[in-house]
Amino acid sequence: MWDVIETRALTKAYGRRVVVDAVSMSVASGEFVVLLGPSGCGKSTILRMIAGLEEPTSGHVLINGDDADELTARERGIAMVFQDFALYPHLTARENIAMPLRVGHTGSGSLTEDLKRVEQVAGYLGVADLLDRRPHQLSGGQAQRVAVARAIVRHPRAFLLDEPLSQVDAHLRQALRAEIARLAKRLRVTTLYVTHDQVEALTLADRIVVMESGVVRQIGTPAQVRTDPDDVFVAGFVGAARTTLVQGAVYFGRSGAVLDLGSQALGGIATLPAQHTDRVTVALRTDALRAVPVDAPGPVLRGRVAFVEDLGSELLVHVSTDLVGVPAAFSTTDATRAIPRQRISREDYEEPFGELVVRVPAGQRPSVGAAFAVEVDLDRVFLFDRAGCRLRPENAPRS
Ligand SMILES: Nc1ncnc2c1ncn2[C@@H]1O[C@H](COP(=O)(O)OP(=O)(O)O)[C@@H](O)[C@H]1O
Ligand SMILES: [Mg+2]
Repeated sequence: MWDVIETRALTKAYGRRVVVDAVSMSVASGEFVVLLGPSGCGKSTILRMIAGLEEPTSGHVLINGDDADELTARERGIAMVFQDFALYPHLTARENIAMPLRVGHTGSGSLTEDLKRVEQVAGYLGVADLLDRRPHQLSGGQAQRVAVARAIVRHPRAFLLDEPLSQVDAHLRQALRAEIARLAKRLRVTTLYVTHDQVEALTLADRIVVMESGVVRQIGTPAQVRTDPDDVFVAGFVGAARTTLVQGAVYFGRSGAVLDLGSQALGGIATLPAQHTDRVTVALRTDALRAVPVDAPGPVLRGRVAFVEDLGSELLVHVSTDLVGVPAAFSTTDATRAIPRQRISREDYEEPFGELVVRVPAGQRPSVGAAFAVEVDLDRVFLFDRAGCRLRPENAPRS
């Protein structure tokens, strides 16, 4: 059985700056958990504390339910592959992979067994025919795989990976991602994997821990964090679609709840929290929006085509509206919390707030400046309070 890793209110401060703030999470035996968050949110610091390379300011790391505070990194037996993994340049791939076996040698295993084990893990990682090369003769991706092989060669009780694909070329990343997923399934080793890339997180994870500025915002399966965000940050950061955040307010008209978006409104929303008349932040995601004819009735928002982004197989139409966007600092009572800029591929394009992003088939390119109507799937509109917490309709079950 692989180990269970748990953190309880794990906290790290550098001077007066708290970079990991009371993080409680767990990785079950054989589970693959991804720690997802933007750069600088404290992910590597958490891994280092779990591995025993850094001392927590407060809180605990538990391994199989026992406090690991007194254990050295070596005693914890947790393998870690760092972001900037380093191979020994003067040793071959084989010698690099074998290194942890030699260093930790207790006299029980023979050299032949060691070499067999090296061949075995090299086989897992597809580097068996590269074993006699030195690091400078390996591509970035190959070197990465050798580093992973070195980390698992000693049958670690758990595995920590810190952005292992960040140094790898984009075209290799996808293949390596699939390889890691396969390897994890086969070995079923308890794994905590760090990344800032939501696609990596969504494809690899059994569960995702979404972090922002040292704080856990949500823990859940990929489906949960993607389709049922607890927090405005999660709504903006995770999910393949773009997310537009706008200001709104809820009131009750003659025909039920209305979501007032300033100059436009959406009625008939069943998922509105009852009697919430405060200002709310409304997340309008691409997957909740559909282009409709401009004279269409029903819950539609209107605007004009600002820009069309060509993704090849489809188009993303950016529709400027008169909705009031929510700039980072206003979406929450805590001005230090930032919502990530909406992701956009055209770098020189300054996206105004309140702009909707709608998917249309490649053949249906609208002209810039044309009037555009967007139907809103009201079941997939998310509302958040001023602290960024999800507002759910009363009595609504959490999915
Ligand atoms: N040794 C250190 N001294 C002071 N600040 C640090 C130290 N290590 C990390 N930090 C700061 O802590 C924050 C979290 O860092 P890190 O855990 O590396 O984030 P991530 O891995 O999510 O990018 C960053 O703002 C970083 O600058
Ligand atoms: Mg890091």
